[in-house]
Amino acid sequence: MSAATDPSLRPRVLLDCDPGHDDAIAIVVAARNTDLVGITTVAGNAPLTSTTHNALVMRDLLGIDVEVHSGSSRPLVGEPKHAGHVHGESGLDGADLPESTTPLDGTDAVQFIVDACHQHDNLWLVPVGPQTNIALALQKDPTIAQRIAGISLMGGGSFGNRSTMGEFNIWADPEAAQIVFASGAPMIMAGLDVTHQFQATPTRIERLRAIDGTLATTLADLLVFFSMMYQRNHDEGHLQGGAMHDPLAVLALTHPTLFERVNRHVVVETQGEYTRGMTVIDERRLIERKAANVAVLTHVDADAAFDLVAEAVAHFTP
Ligand code: RIB
Ligand code: CA
Repeated sequence: MSAATDPSLRPRVLLDCDPGHDDAIAIVVAARNTDLVGITTVAGNAPLTSTTHNALVMRDLLGIDVEVHSGSSRPLVGEPKHAGHVHGESGLDGADLPESTTPLDGTDAVQFIVDACHQHDNLWLVPVGPQTNIALALQKDPTIAQRIAGISLMGGGSFGNRSTMGEFNIWADPEAAQIVFASGAPMIMAGLDVTHQFQATPTRIERLRAIDGTLATTLADLLVFFSMMYQRNHDEGHLQGGAMHDPLAVLALTHPTLFERVNRHVVVETQGEYTRGMTVIDERRLIERKAANVAVLTHVDADAAFDLVAEAVAHFTP
């Protein structure tokens, strides 16, 4: 029995996202393998209107009955930052996407998150974009940090992608990320060190394309675009495809044995001229170091993880 076949084994998840090509994969994997209580959207890869539209389109493509609530259009401090150079202006460039046909369920993601934390036991919050909504929910009701099972996030790492040390989700709203990392909730972190091991290689993309149906073709087209944009921003040959970051924050809950992890103390730098948006991971072996607050994922069985992506796509193919 697995989480996909036995609902009682499925982690209960609220996915907070900024679709985003890899967010789209995370939505598919979460819909297949978790008790998905809701999807909330945040500005990130694209403006909030776009990330919200993209989440609704993905819901329609999957034909799932999950509420979508939009949230924050800007970070706690400073101006919104986007990632059109990776995801395109729409946030999901590269495929001929249908218009969304189902209405948004609400525009107060923060209240929806707080309510969900009180309505559902053993709820995992899974932010895979800037953590603005999660931080505002924690500020609105700090008790949720003790009520939830934990927070499994995509973000951070020992290096950055929007600055030397700033990974986009943290870099786009460092103040929010620091609120989340300091919340006291159990935390799992899928940072760039592990997500760069999970690449949308041509072989994997063609494996999706071989699955019947619109969803598979659409995702294959999206990943071709994502990989092209990703690889052109990196040294030639360094990557064999776009890093599929976000689904790992979901799979860490549904298939934990695919991962290696270390417990570390992590804080977020919000002041440094060169390091703002950095996850400061304490790797020292000094006994004086602070107690760990995060399980940092260090390795993933990428082939097994992609098997789960392909299985989830095939599951939603009529
Ligand atoms: O740095 C990668 C992260 O930023 C991913 O979540 C991607 O979707 C973007 O949000
Ligand atoms: Ca994302």
